[in-house]
Amino acid sequence: MSNAEVFGWKFSKFINNSNYNFSREKILDVCGKDNVNDAFKIISNWENYNSTPLLKLNKLSKKLNLKNIFYKDESKRFHLKSFKALGGAYAVEKITKGNKNITVATATAGNHGRSVSWGAQRLGLKCKIFISEYVSESRADVMRDLGADVIRVKGNYEASLKECIKQSQMNGWEIIQDVAWEGYEEVPRLTMAGYSVMIKEISIQTDQYITHVFLQAGVGGMASGAIAGIAKYFKRIPKIIIVEPENADCVLQSVKEGEMKKIDIKKESILGGMSCGEVSLVPWKILKNGVNNCISISDENIAKTVAMLQKKHLSEETIIGGECATPGIIGLIAACEDQNVKNNLDLNEKSNVLLMGCEGDADKDLYKRLLNEGVKKLI
Ligand SMILES: Cc1ncc(COP(=O)(O)O)c(C=O)c1O
Repeated sequence: MSNAEVFGWKFSKFINNSNYNFSREKILDVCGKDNVNDAFKIISNWENYNSTPLLKLNKLSKKLNLKNIFYKDESKRFHLKSFKALGGAYAVEKITKGNKNITVATATAGNHGRSVSWGAQRLGLKCKIFISEYVSESRADVMRDLGADVIRVKGNYEASLKECIKQSQMNGWEIIQDVAWEGYEEVPRLTMAGYSVMIKEISIQTDQYITHVFLQAGVGGMASGAIAGIAKYFKRIPKIIIVEPENADCVLQSVKEGEMKKIDIKKESILGGMSCGEVSLVPWKILKNGVNNCISISDENIAKTVAMLQKKHLSEETIIGGECATPGIIGLIAACEDQNVKNNLDLNEKSNVLLMGCEGDADKDLYKRLLNEGVKKLI
């Protein structure tokens, strides 16, 4: 039986990066070599720090005939349930140095704001969080519980960011944004360096050489932070594949054209944190030559994947993976089911694939809804 008969999943677009030219040195220059070193030193000393588990999706690797599929389970990242805990909170600490007169502010789709709120709470700072009309109340409540003042803004994420910048300038608040723009690069560099900690942990957790990494992207901060980690900590450079929602494939379009491209998002993906129309400036400097391929996916298989993780269809253990934990799995399955792409990527029985399980049930209501919907599709 062919793999296609097992899942029948398809990607939307797949491209090769004709400008691929991986340079460890250049990548670490962009992120800041000292930032990468410092991030692990500082974060690993935080109270309750533990590496998140590196699980094996052994049932899926058998089905796809791959050697190993590693899954970095960020649902266990502190109590924040997403890798974002590593970025915003670290940037808050570095920028404010704990000065209690500073108020920090950010715009967020949810998880970054949670990290900034937590970072502020840890240091006893005031915190202002701007969210769009698309961010759920349950995500807002989590940030309120972490002591933040949450301000809802009409419109999308861009509108919430605009309002955050405007009010911060008026009130002298320190913006801790994970997105970079011309003249605003230091904080995004710090958040990326925070994310590189995931790769440091993986380099300790397995002695297998990773051959392929699937990295989710919204504005590209997580992916480029992970790539900085790969440049620093991995002995061999794996194939790096970016995964995005089909309606917000700003990295794919930019890589294809060799320059930053803005996407007009026609329909918001359920992958809220990844539904971004424009790649961030600092990540772009890493992604443009640092990724081998880009793949985009629809929302179709997200609920089913959430259920497969929870119901042990992919691994021996139950895994709590929210919507943004699924794109790597979906992209990998779809890639394996297209023989040309599978060959192109050299995905075979010798492959050790790394997937990022970016978040757990960070949005509890949405998680429940997806799980219920997905379970029905399993039967
Ligand atoms: C929950 C969540 N939010 C956002 C993102 C996107 O991160 P970035 O905007 O840094 O690319 C991801 C993963 O890519 C994610 O899992």
